[in-house]
Amino acid sequence: MNGEPARENAPAEDWIRRTWLVNGREVSLRVPPLRRVLDILREELGLTGAKEGCGEGECGACTVLVDDQPVCACLLVAAQLPNRSRILTIEGLSAMEEGRILEEAYVEAGAVQCGFCIPGMVMASYALLRRNSAPTERQIREALAGNICRCTGYVKIVEAVGRAAERMGRAAAGR
Ligand code: FES
Ligand code: FES
Repeated sequence: MNGEPARENAPAEDWIRRTWLVNGREVSLRVPPLRRVLDILREELGLTGAKEGCGEGECGACTVLVDDQPVCACLLVAAQLPNRSRILTIEGLSAMEEGRILEEAYVEAGAVQCGFCIPGMVMASYALLRRNSAPTERQIREALAGNICRCTGYVKIVEAVGRAAERMGRAAAGR
């Protein structure tokens, strides 16, 4: 969970330097090896879109993409991410056409209520659509199974991902 003393108390001589590509930008930091990537993103880099729900890998609110794969940033520590790892957060995705399409589709489908789960949902949705541009409802549900929404039920979320898939397909065909 957040704030375990051992994690933050590594002596400074044990800290490690890491250089990652965060939302396409090179970022170099010196951090305790066991500092969680979620905390680094939120506290060191000001990228607060990834949320902490459970802190235990159960809710998906902290989902980011690392080298195109969705991961729970609450379970990852700095030492596990080698130099040159590519991290995409909701801030980076929102600046991309695919992110805008997804966010619009979520809003239009009425899939956003309190919004807490949405950054993680959108990241997981994007990861799905990267590998499968026309997913079935079942495939969408499977891809989002690790992301918990306490407000909406999942019908509207599934609808939103379907809408976004169609729009991305149309956008790609029009290029
Ligand atoms: S906060 Fe990471 S999975 Fe819940
Ligand atoms: S919209 Fe509130 S938890 Fe999903």
